[in-house]
Amino acid sequence: MPRSHSLAVIGGDGIGPEVTRAALRVLDAAEVRFRFSTSRTEYPWSSARYVESGERIGPKDIDGLRKHEAILFGAVGDPRAPRGVVERAIIFGLRQGLDLYVNLRPVVLYDMRLTPLRDRQAADVDMVVVRENTEDVYTQAGAITGTGKDEVAVAPMRFTRPGIERIVRYAFELARSRPRKHLTLVDKANAIPVQELWRRIFDEIGASFADVTRDAMYVDAAAMWMVQKPEQFDTLVTTNLFGDILTDLGAAIAGGMGIAASGNINPGKTSMFEPIHGSAPKYAGQGVASPLGAIGALAMLLRHVGEREAGDAVERAIRDGLRSELIVGLEAGAQRTDDVAQVVAELVGP
Ligand code: IPM
Ligand code: MG
Repeated sequence: MPRSHSLAVIGGDGIGPEVTRAALRVLDAAEVRFRFSTSRTEYPWSSARYVESGERIGPKDIDGLRKHEAILFGAVGDPRAPRGVVERAIIFGLRQGLDLYVNLRPVVLYDMRLTPLRDRQAADVDMVVVRENTEDVYTQAGAITGTGKDEVAVAPMRFTRPGIERIVRYAFELARSRPRKHLTLVDKANAIPVQELWRRIFDEIGASFADVTRDAMYVDAAAMWMVQKPEQFDTLVTTNLFGDILTDLGAAIAGGMGIAASGNINPGKTSMFEPIHGSAPKYAGQGVASPLGAIGALAMLLRHVGEREAGDAVERAIRDGLRSELIVGLEAGAQRTDDVAQVVAELVGP
């Protein structure tokens, strides 16, 4: 019996459905080459659906996703919908509802021509950001109170010991598995004293990872060093908000939003994989968006469901496609979405 995996597919809005379809085409090739199969259940949640019917994803729907091993997600966001409402319902709904506490965001420069940094080799940009994904100012707590000049907006930046411990431990394990075995904590403990808790837990847990070297950096400095000296970074661990910001910067130095992928992970449980880019409504339906973010997300998904070899092959195909310039570029319109998928699928096999 060939191995089989149950997947959920949420294309979402804008370019989401087209880049997801492109990734599934690569999945077809990987299945043939590595002899496994998947069942794919599509779910229709999107901002467009909310605008048209008022229907939004709810806790029951999210619970229903637990029967799948993984979710491939496109993008969500529609200019007709109220700002952030559906994004939060779906993205935070999944992250909180499935307790996807790790947001894993590799920053890998597949080909030197893609970076805006001057005089950089591909090997100079090869890091992975472990972003905490369930706490911080992202918990939706807080309010705007008062009126007129007395209006006040307050949102708590909330971290729990178990919340920090699990992400820091995950990051040390990950760092240990990488050749350089180095982990950098990124926080703002100088200006935000409650972040001292991150420093303490980082050192406590670090003490039992003697083979992993570690350092800590404030987020402003980290942003500067990512541009000036990216080669010093291997594995990074950081808060939800800082991770959000730093990984857009990371995407930029690796070639832009057209390439960056991420995994929203609860190890061993149903997890969600998505390109970092949004729904890009102005390119929707034209078949011009780069599917490499979604294909990169597929590579991470494959590793999550135990198809490591297939995941590695997909990632290699992305790299080879870019280095050989069979994949022309990452900007919208550089090449048809389907053509890029075809190139990657052919490089994957059989
Ligand atoms: C991301 C996105 C989301 C976030 C938005 C869409 C809510 O920017 O996944 O990085 O802030 O987490
Ligand atoms: Mg973001």
